[in-house]
This record gives sequence, C-alpha cells and structure tokens, in this order.
Amino acid sequence: MQPKTALQSKTVVTDIVLPSETNPLNNLFGGELLARMDRAASIAARRHSRRIVVTASVNHVAFNRSIPLGSVVTIEAKVSRAFTSSMEIYLDVWIEDRESGECVKANEAIYTFVAVDETGRPVKIPQLIPESDLEKQRYDAALRRKQLSLVLAGKMKPVDATELKALFE
Ligand SMILES: CC(C)(COP(=O)(O)OP(=O)(O)OC[C@H]1O[C@@H](n2cnc3c(N)ncnc32)[C@H](O)[C@@H]1OP(=O)(O)O)[C@@H](O)C(=O)NCCC(=O)NCCS
Repeated sequence: MQPKTALQSKTVVTDIVLPSETNPLNNLFGGELLARMDRAASIAARRHSRRIVVTASVNHVAFNRSIPLGSVVTIEAKVSRAFTSSMEIYLDVWIEDRESGECVKANEAIYTFVAVDETGRPVKIPQLIPESDLEKQRYDAALRRKQLSLVLAGKMKPVDATELKALFE
C-alpha cells in the first residue's frame, strides 16, 4: 500500500455561526463545534484511507477561545499519523476577523478514526509520511497519544504503554 502525505488528507471546512448554534452568552455551543470537527475529521480520514471510517475516540479538545455569533469559522483537519487501521486526525480551528480578514486560532482537537469494511471490521490503511516540522512533531507524539487513549479506554494495560511510560522515566 502506497504511503501518503498529510497534505493528501487536508480538509478545510468554513462555515458561519448562526443563532440556533449558540449558548446563552451568544457563543458557539461546544457540541456544535465537536460535530463540525467530527465531520471535517471524517472527511480527512476518508481521503487518507479511501475506506468507510468511524470515530473511535475524541482524544483531546481545547476550547481555548469562545467563538461569537456570526463568526466565520474555519476547521482544518489532517491525518497526523496512520497506524494499522486507525488514524489520528489533528484539527486546527480558526476564526476570521470581519474587517481585516485576519485568522486567529480559536481551538484545536485530536480525533481517532478507524477504517472499516462494509461489516464494520477494521481494515489496513496506508502509512503517513510527515513532511513539515509541525507534521513531524505531531507524528512523533501520536503513538504516545494512542497509548494514552487505549489505556483510558481500558483497551491497553498501563504496563504495556511503553511510549507513555518513557515520558516519566
Ligand atoms: C472503533 C472500532 C471499529 C474499533 O473496533 P475494535 O473491535 O475495538 O477493533 P480493534 O481492537 O482491532 O481496534 C482497531 C483499531 O482501533 C484502535 N482503537 C480502538 N479503540 C481506540 C481508542 N479508544 N483510542 C484509540 N484507538 C483506538 C485500535 O488501537 C486499533 O488500531 P490499529 O489497528 O491502528 O492498531 C469499534 O469499536 C466501533 O465500531 N466503534 C463504534 C464506532 C462508532 O460508531 N463511532 C461513532 C460513534 S456515534
């Protein structure tokens, strides 16, 4: 299977924040952002694997900055590392200033998707070759995050999480 670059999965979704999608402070509702990120991540995962993909885990979400009503929100999703059937997707969320057009980073998130066949069984996917410094940094840390996610899900014994343990040694 031919390896792919992160750029080949790059997915950019731009949308506006409508009144029905806000909380009482007139900022974007967290669950709405999670759903938008899930959709963008699923497209990136599909572009990388060219298979049916399902969300296996939401590994990290940082709601660092609120997103006001009327904001133009851009979500950029890229596969940061591919394993056997699972992929880590890294998402960067930007809001665009109405007057200057300048984009400010609002949030980021990391999702794990698994490629499956028509019966829902995990299938093998192409490996990922990181190119830029940021892609290499995210690629290197992804195994550690996978192990943490599996330990928290009760699918891996902490003693087997070698990458994770190395952080504390
Ligand atoms: C995700 C799913 C396909 C995994 O199936 P499974 O029987 O656990 O399969 P496996 O144990 O072989 O895991 C498959 C891959 O997923 C990874 N994985 C499973 N759970 C994970 C988790 N919580 N965090 C990170 N990776 C996970 C495994 O490490 C493995 O990766 P690899 O093949 O790249 O090494 C299955 O749990 C599923 O279908 N879940 C429901 C998905 C869904 O409906 N999502 C939408 C929710 S509304």
